[in-house]
Amino acid sequence: MDKFIIEGNGPLNGEIAASGAKNAALPILCAALLSDEPLTVTNVPRLWDIGTASRLLAQMGVAVEQTEAHTIVLDAKPITTCVAPYELVRTMRASILVLGPLVARRGEAHVSLPGGCAIGARPVDLHLMGLEAMGAEITLDGGFIHAQCKKLKGAHIVFDTVTVTGTENLMMAATLAEGETILENAAREPEVVDTARCLRAMGARISGDGTTTIRIQGVEKLHAATHRVLPDRIETGTYLLAAAVTRGRVRVTHTDPSLLDAVLVKLQQAGAKLKTGTDFIEVDMQNRRATSVNIHTMPHPGFPTDMQAQMMAMNCVAEGVATIRETIFENRFMHAQELMRLGADIRIEGNLAIVTGRERLQAAPIMATDLRASASLVLAALAADGETLIDRIYHMDRGYEDIEGKLSALGARIKRVRQLL
Ligand code: UD1
Repeated sequence: MDKFIIEGNGPLNGEIAASGAKNAALPILCAALLSDEPLTVTNVPRLWDIGTASRLLAQMGVAVEQTEAHTIVLDAKPITTCVAPYELVRTMRASILVLGPLVARRGEAHVSLPGGCAIGARPVDLHLMGLEAMGAEITLDGGFIHAQCKKLKGAHIVFDTVTVTGTENLMMAATLAEGETILENAAREPEVVDTARCLRAMGARISGDGTTTIRIQGVEKLHAATHRVLPDRIETGTYLLAAAVTRGRVRVTHTDPSLLDAVLVKLQQAGAKLKTGTDFIEVDMQNRRATSVNIHTMPHPGFPTDMQAQMMAMNCVAEGVATIRETIFENRFMHAQELMRLGADIRIEGNLAIVTGRERLQAAPIMATDLRASASLVLAALAADGETLIDRIYHMDRGYEDIEGKLSALGARIKRVRQLL
């Protein structure tokens, strides 16, 4: 397993480009299953999870071709099997996103249950409830979800709780259903909107995406299209926080400030000087220590849970005391234990973390536990004295394209140690 060695060496300074959003690229790649004509997706980030999604689709018979560094062309004319096997699903929960498209196009799907995951129970009951409401017959057997339906029918679906991939799965399924589907209490995340945009380019009739009510009029067939994936707001936010924790100045280009409203407000409260343009954001800490900021995670447009761990890292070295309340996932403070190994002062009470800022952290060997947790550990290591060794960084490779290249471009001292055995 690869490791990072990071030496905290003062303020980061410079400019880097954001990659395409992982969480939009994944549903969009799966959307290719809805059509027998090719889908060209550009600005696809080069990530482990994208490789997993490509392998998953390829083993279903989809021709998946990477034609350029960030372009993937998918041709799902032949779907030879409707099975998503355990070996792939267990490494990436988002594999569940093939369920809706397969049932809609082929009338059946056999998808391994994702099972538990490090950041909480994360069930898929709402995905299944929605498909059942659309007429699918669902059985669970041998660790698999079996879904069957000759032709899905439009339905009025109200989500109990806001689910991002649940909304995407049912929105995709509804594009080929008979009649109208209404999704209420739908997720408003920009990645849902981007997926809807791609589906519309393929001929789907969708309105209301970006609001809590999405309406989909089923059509007979979707057609060929080209779609550019929107910028990754979580990656963008992570690099902006690298400036905040190191008291530096970082400009992220190829991004979109309107995707990060809640995060930018917090950065401003922390004392950052912000500059934004149509496609860039710059954070300048002017060599000053950040001020603590309270965080309460919420579905979009609230503060994203995927930025909570990174904000905790900033609060660990900020001036003052901050409270962080995690309301989306029940077990998403695992990074706290590791941050404490670096000397952070954190108290956990249920879903509340109380963080008292320290002037500096001290290097120590630590271990990544999930994708965003690993980002927070990298940030903390950048603000620690000495060399921090971070183990299990494969979590990082799932969601951050060339993180060491990008951080090095900002002046960070970061080295990947490859472990061959
Ligand atoms: C997506 C993102 C993930 C992000 C999360 C919340 C992708 C690939 N992943 O994950 O990075 O952290 O949104 O913004 O886009 N729930 C149920 N039943 C369900 C589905 C969800 O109870 O059927 C609950 C979950 O346990 C969780 C909450 O709803 O407490 C939100 O989960 P959800 O939005 O579905 O997360 P994901 O789509 O898995």
